[in-house]
Amino acid sequence: MFSYAITGASKGLGREFVRQLAADTTNMVLAIVRDPESPGIFEIASSHSNVHVIKGDVTDPKSILEAASAAAVVTGGKLDVLIHNSNAVDMASMSFNPTQIPFDAQAIRKIFDLPLSTGVYGGIWTTNAFLPLIEKGIQKKIVHISSGMADLDFINKSGVSNAVAYSIAKAGVNVQVAKYAAELAPKGIKVLALSPGWVETWEGRLTFILKAVMVETDIIIGEKPSQLIKANDALLKLFQVAEPELKGQIQPQESVRKCLQVIERLDAETSGLFLSHNGDNTRWF
Ligand SMILES: NC(=O)c1ccc[n+]([C@@H]2O[C@H](COP(=O)([O-])OP(=O)(O)OC[C@H]3O[C@@H](n4cnc5c(N)ncnc54)[C@H](OP(=O)(O)O)[C@@H]3O)[C@@H](O)[C@H]2O)c1
Repeated sequence: MFSYAITGASKGLGREFVRQLAADTTNMVLAIVRDPESPGIFEIASSHSNVHVIKGDVTDPKSILEAASAAAVVTGGKLDVLIHNSNAVDMASMSFNPTQIPFDAQAIRKIFDLPLSTGVYGGIWTTNAFLPLIEKGIQKKIVHISSGMADLDFINKSGVSNAVAYSIAKAGVNVQVAKYAAELAPKGIKVLALSPGWVETWEGRLTFILKAVMVETDIIIGEKPSQLIKANDALLKLFQVAEPELKGQIQPQESVRKCLQVIERLDAETSGLFLSHNGDNTRWF
């Protein structure tokens, strides 16, 4: 029996990790969410006795320490795999290129705050809070969900110049992962930065990644709006510059299935790397 904890499990890829891992009834799955009542995760938890929903905000050190304590009670003090998946961005500035970032200290902090708080600070607090459990686990794996948008070759080839704070924060996550891997190797702990590919996680709202190519739009709830489809096509064209074979987004089921295969293969050799769901550092889609 293996135990898994996933942050940002209320929706999107986080919830899909919970769903796929919970399908193996020998697994124990801890879904870390800001709101334990959020309908998506509540539904999975009520139909799977091996899913435990735990309240935790990764941007709040006290909250994530409490989440780790609550997790320890459920698992008996140990954890095999931690997946730090939470992410948030400032939607209003996602379409900005670097030269559009204003000469305004408050404004620049606002642009960088969410991706740094969730990915970088949140990544450190979550890792440190759960580390005592991971040390007692069998698999000893820590995975941070990153993005191909932080890969230098990809940026240079595709020419995607926006999503600045998001991409910089994910690049920070990648370095952070390498630092943890270097420190924790003597304890047999493996750490990985993992990009999930380009994934359709739209749930009646704009995804951050699509917002990046839209000049102006409102958040729209309901059916996928035509401007979103247009933005998706624009992004696809940019991505195809780097990867001409790319047809479009993949579904969360495929992304998570492949991510779990990469996590399964994670060992001392691959610890510290930044890999895609395809298991290498060249194919980001
Ligand atoms: N989708 C893609 O194409 C794609 C591509 C590359 C990388 N990624 C990465 O994959 C991961 C998941 O992406 P996604 O598309 O599934 O994103 P998503 O649908 O926006 O979900 C993000 C998750 O993060 C949680 N979260 C936000 N702020 C949080 C906080 N302060 N504390 C705890 N949880 C928080 C959200 O929970 P709430 O419901 O509480 O807000 C939500 O569950 C992210 O790290 C993202 O950067 C995604």
